Amino acid sequence: MKKSRISGGINRREFIGTITGAAALALIGLDRRAVANVAAGGDSIARDFMARICFNENPIGPSPEAANAIIAAAYLTNRYPDWFGESLIAALAARYNLSTDRFICGSGGTEMLRLCAMTFSQPGGNVIVPNPSYTQFPSDCELFGRTVRYVSLDQDYRINLQAIANRVDGGTTAICLTNPNNPTGTLLDDGELTSFVQALDDDIVVIIDEAYLEYIDDENYTSAVELVRNGRNVVLVKTFSKVYGLAGARIGYAVSRSSNISAMRQYQIISTISKPCLEGAKAALTDQAHVDQTVQLAADMKAYCFQHFGQMGLSYIPSQASFFMVNVNTDADYVRSLLEERQIFVRTGWGMSQYLRVSTGTPNEMERFVYELDHILSSMPKNGVPIELKSTALFQASPNPFNSSTVIRIYLPQPQETRLDIYDINGRLINRLADGILGTGEHAFIWNGVNSGGSPVATGAYFYRLISGENVITRKMLLIK
Ligand SMILES: Cc1ncc(COP(=O)(O)O)c(C=O)c1O
Repeated sequence: MKKSRISGGINRREFIGTITGAAALALIGLDRRAVANVAAGGDSIARDFMARICFNENPIGPSPEAANAIIAAAYLTNRYPDWFGESLIAALAARYNLSTDRFICGSGGTEMLRLCAMTFSQPGGNVIVPNPSYTQFPSDCELFGRTVRYVSLDQDYRINLQAIANRVDGGTTAICLTNPNNPTGTLLDDGELTSFVQALDDDIVVIIDEAYLEYIDDENYTSAVELVRNGRNVVLVKTFSKVYGLAGARIGYAVSRSSNISAMRQYQIISTISKPCLEGAKAALTDQAHVDQTVQLAADMKAYCFQHFGQMGLSYIPSQASFFMVNVNTDADYVRSLLEERQIFVRTGWGMSQYLRVSTGTPNEMERFVYELDHILSSMPKNGVPIELKSTALFQASPNPFNSSTVIRIYLPQPQETRLDIYDINGRLINRLADGILGTGEHAFIWNGVNSGGSPVATGAYFYRLISGENVITRKMLLIK
């Protein structure tokens, strides 16, 4: 039995009785003030303790053993760390019972995926990834000018291995799978993954990112490390950012055949894990109680939310990870922006316009999330008078951002209250272009790339949110200067 589950969800009293954010800190032996004192400049402590349920971080913090090891090692930071994290590799090799030449470690799963893109993609070839899925590997491949073939998930939001197999050809050098998948949380089971890998030619590398392995609630699932053990051409990517709660420390590793590891190492710069973080990672490996507690909390928080979604009439994608997706039956970007106004940060995107991706947080965070979501959705208009979005013309704001502009045209079938806001990608309100009753007919709103104070804003992605009568339209747009 991997973990116990609270069957049929948990009631409010039990829920409140479980740990809260402050208790979570106390649990790891730190208090808020102490954390505030060590918080890095610029990243306000308040921000860290809002409902930041958008990055799939560990809500209870790092293992106290890891935190203590990091603090203790601070006094040795006059010394360089191991060149290639050899001491962590030795600990991992012992844990997996594999030789040290099968491991490489570095600055998070992110560095591992970057090294995979550098090592296993080739000019003129192609790599294949599911979509939507974790974007690090394909974006890096695209950055290096490689061809990426994106293969849609199946109708249950699972990775479609058959469709991926159909796209393999003589130019395919690598396939990258995230299991459980991010953002959907869906899982490929052992058997189907093994058959898929076995059927491929040995010169195709299968990168399997198991960032969320520990959260899998399927007793029969074993890590893809077994495929590595059995000699398959697989690179397993792992991170300390999730279940170990060390996202800010930046530690990840990969396990594969030694030829792949040496090929990846050719591209690695030395010492990408600092000395304190190496110590923290080694200590985290020894703290199974912290891992169990983290996994249990995520399971409880999923059960709590899913039970409430049932009552709210919302469907969700059953998740085997520390996050989940819920269908809000309306424009999810808009709901996300309303949650943000209430200091609850979730994510949207991936072409799934009605879904929020929500990380499991502390009980307090999840209670606030469910409460506010319910409130937002139940106060949304059900049968609005439709407005027609005529066109959104986006002009390049170059060379002078003041000479060019974004024009958003709408047609109103009747006079109605209309508001148009521009947000940046962090959900901050940049400018309000309209706010009042507009008459029947066509209206054009112009944004010339400035904030409400009249200063030009940076090149990048922005959102506009148009609320007119009972309609809401949120769209992403790119401002290029
Ligand atoms: C699937 C997956 N892989 C890799 C990463 C990168 O993790 P890190 O670079 O923090 O180790 C993440 C982070 O969210 C992830 O979701």
